[in-house]
Amino acid sequence: MLSWDTELHGLGIADMDATHEEFAHLATEVARAGDDDFPLLFAMLLDHTRRHFENESRLMRECHFPATGEHEAEHWRILADLTHMQRAIDEGRLGLARLYARQGLPDWFRNHLATMDSALAARLKRQAMPSPAAGRPYRPSARVP
Ligand SMILES: [Fe+2]
Ligand SMILES: [Fe+2]
Repeated sequence: MLSWDTELHGLGIADMDATHEEFAHLATEVARAGDDDFPLLFAMLLDHTRRHFENESRLMRECHFPATGEHEAEHWRILADLTHMQRAIDEGRLGLARLYARQGLPDWFRNHLATMDSALAARLKRQAMPSPAAGRPYRPSARVP
């Protein structure tokens, strides 16, 4: 289970943190769902995860993140797992997806947050800081008398 704690899980980039908090809440709902609600909630989680990863790909492009390839490969691996499980759910087989929602996915998320997403957030924060030259206060040129 994932219980969101901003102090513990927040990375300091507002839209990443908001998405991760939504992910944690949704993943917890999926893990706790009964058989009737599980398929719809799992489909919502898959859709949310796709958008989550698309947004991080955009951020990585914008800041020229050096480990984009590794980070996106990790996202694709998880999306492939979730898509595979969605197919099984669609065929009425919930067992593997239930196990994954309870254990595998929360474990993956904690680890991914602490490594790849933290590295991306650190890069975004560094880029947001003005360089020493750019940080000099603006001074209009001296007026010609
Ligand atoms: Fe993320
Ligand atoms: Fe990520």
